[in-house]
Amino acid sequence: MKKISLVGIICLVLLNIGVIAQDNSNKNKTDVRIDSLLQHMTLEEKIGQVTQYAWHMTMTGPEGKEIDLQQEIKNGKVGSVLNLSGADETYEIQKIAVEQSRLGIPIIFGLDVIHGYKTIFPIPLGEAASWDIDAIERSARIAASEAAAAGIHWTFAPMVDIARDPRWGRIMEGAGEDPYLGACIAAARVRGFQGNDLSDPNTILACVKHYAAYGAAIAGRDYNTVDISRQTLRGIYLPPFKAAVDAGAGSVMTSFNELNGIPATGSDFLINEILKNHWNFKGFVVSDWNAIREMIAHGFAKDTYEAALYAIHAGVDMDMMGMIYSTELSNLLNDNIITENNIDEAVKRILRTKVSLGLFRDPYKYCSTKREHELLLHPDHCEAARDMARKSIVLLKNENNVLPLNKNIKSIAVIGPLADNKDDLIGSWSARGEGKDVITLLAGIKSKVSPKTKVLFAKGCNINDEDTSLFKKAIETAEQAEIIIAAVGESRDMSGEAASRAYLDLPGVQNQLLRELNKTGKPIIVVLANGRPLVLTWMSEHIPAILETWLLGTQTGHAVADVLFGDYNPSGKLPVSFPYAVGQIPVYYNHKSTGRPEVQNTRYCSKYLDIPNKPLYPFGYGLSYTTFAYSDLQLNKYEILVNDTLYASINIKNTGETAGEETIQLYIRDVVASLTRPVKELKRFKKIMLDAGECKEIGFTLSAADLGFYNQNMNYTIEPGKFKIFIGTNSENTLETDFVLLPDSLSETEK
Ligand code: GLC
Repeated sequence: MKKISLVGIICLVLLNIGVIAQDNSNKNKTDVRIDSLLQHMTLEEKIGQVTQYAWHMTMTGPEGKEIDLQQEIKNGKVGSVLNLSGADETYEIQKIAVEQSRLGIPIIFGLDVIHGYKTIFPIPLGEAASWDIDAIERSARIAASEAAAAGIHWTFAPMVDIARDPRWGRIMEGAGEDPYLGACIAAARVRGFQGNDLSDPNTILACVKHYAAYGAAIAGRDYNTVDISRQTLRGIYLPPFKAAVDAGAGSVMTSFNELNGIPATGSDFLINEILKNHWNFKGFVVSDWNAIREMIAHGFAKDTYEAALYAIHAGVDMDMMGMIYSTELSNLLNDNIITENNIDEAVKRILRTKVSLGLFRDPYKYCSTKREHELLLHPDHCEAARDMARKSIVLLKNENNVLPLNKNIKSIAVIGPLADNKDDLIGSWSARGEGKDVITLLAGIKSKVSPKTKVLFAKGCNINDEDTSLFKKAIETAEQAEIIIAAVGESRDMSGEAASRAYLDLPGVQNQLLRELNKTGKPIIVVLANGRPLVLTWMSEHIPAILETWLLGTQTGHAVADVLFGDYNPSGKLPVSFPYAVGQIPVYYNHKSTGRPEVQNTRYCSKYLDIPNKPLYPFGYGLSYTTFAYSDLQLNKYEILVNDTLYASINIKNTGETAGEETIQLYIRDVVASLTRPVKELKRFKKIMLDAGECKEIGFTLSAADLGFYNQNMNYTIEPGKFKIFIGTNSENTLETDFVLLPDSLSETEK
């Protein structure tokens, strides 16, 4: 077996023990070490570091050319491998890289650990509905500890794409429609994944994606064109990326889409100008799967040669499965189109990351079968997943307080294709999660109720076909019970990547099943299991209780049962608007006023003839088993200067019979500005617990910087004038007051 060469040993020793030639420049020690390694690397080995391959046949994108991966690794031509996991499996491959390649540079293993590794948490859109930043951070931390124990160094998460269009299947993967909530969650996920020390064996490198504006695909069709103003890009789609970078995200992934005519993967404006220069991002940029090559299909690159040129010039440091850098960079160099420094810059960013992960010091530190067996599906992790799932559930309707149910109820009929379903409830992008570990809704209910309760089950129909042959059995089952719990929704593959839907009704014949069940006259509680907002208009009018449970992961059944039977009072709030109809899309709360805002019973105004302008369920909406009253909105001052801070307070009272959590939301409106501003913008929120009858004063502090926006010249500016403040329980139900930002000698400032 070819041993690592003497050169390689010297390089690794230099990198490991930090014995470096004294360098009087202001470079830090790591950079000096890396420079010394670079000097020993051949061009082929440098290009290897910027090349990432997927492990055999575990494709999360279009098929690539089959290669002999082990041989490529021995030849020093592979810097990263994705989709391989397992302490033993990664150890075998790392051993080849470290002991059989000339320089022994360790590989970085990446995987989509989006909402858990083995213990699966709610889909990210569900977690966002919790508005519980600490819980979301803990979820990411647990995912990181399990993935790291299985040999993973790098997750392709958090996905922070703002999504205003539920036709887009990847809405399930992000934090919904709002830039402020999205930014808070993006930072929390980065902190959770990376912790305070990337070399800690329980932390993994984050990769904030998909840069940028992937969620703005026209018509919600995945990979489709994105054409938005620069103000919308900076004001709506970039804030979560900026928050993730500010939180220390070590890598960024470019998106498939073009942005205003330029594919993001070839965009010097996005990558070099904004990310690397303006935001001072020091990590590395990886293309999404084959996205470099896809610049040809976009009609932006003539061939692979040009595609490689545009990508390296734009600042893409690693080629995921495009197999373009591995072939074209040397040609571009030989033709003097690029310099070796272009390649070195990318290699340095990648090597610096491998050093920060501790891979040079101990390439096998993440390959511990002992930790893998100890941590995966650890009971503490399952309990955390159950808690996160409970908090993610949104109570949309509860007519006559039909919920919570009594655990001693005589009989329940649990009906629907999602009732005794395991595989769909872990959702898309569920890493190494398995359906066999899922607690189904039926199992959760059975374990919750008294032994005397009769729990009946009927599937009723399939998720997505026209077969109604199971209806009869379902109706007969329903007739035997006091109450019906209908578990309906989408399969895991109906949301996620390449899963856009043009209709947003319950798929198949599920709506028909609900109508037939409704004819029995029994009270029905709908438990929705879905990866996106659906059109629930009929249901909202005819069904007394509706729980939005998203796709909750391994602990689904226990979490939903905790809520159904009152062991947890639902506290979730929608992170995304639910439309009346597909024709209303895109509908979102932070819309503009227009010159003819909607006025009831007025013809010439911006409205529909057949539905309201407002969504069926608005951003920030969610009920509780108790009620809350807001009163006495006060400001500490009603005129402020640009250097002042503003303190807004409000009283919240729990006016119901049971303790509950409420997420208080603060929005602003810049009433008149040099560019029109949204009618509301979320700027703060707080989730608090109130006992029955308890009243609290809650305060928020704002600074003038919270009032700014990107103006016509693309400068972040704060303009004097009248502002509104809204505080309330959701984006439509608020108290409001005004204040004035006084003129000042304020110049346009760059944020
Ligand atoms: C996919 C996705 C991206 C993922 C990558 C690796 O195509 O777009 O989100 O991280 O490939 O699986």
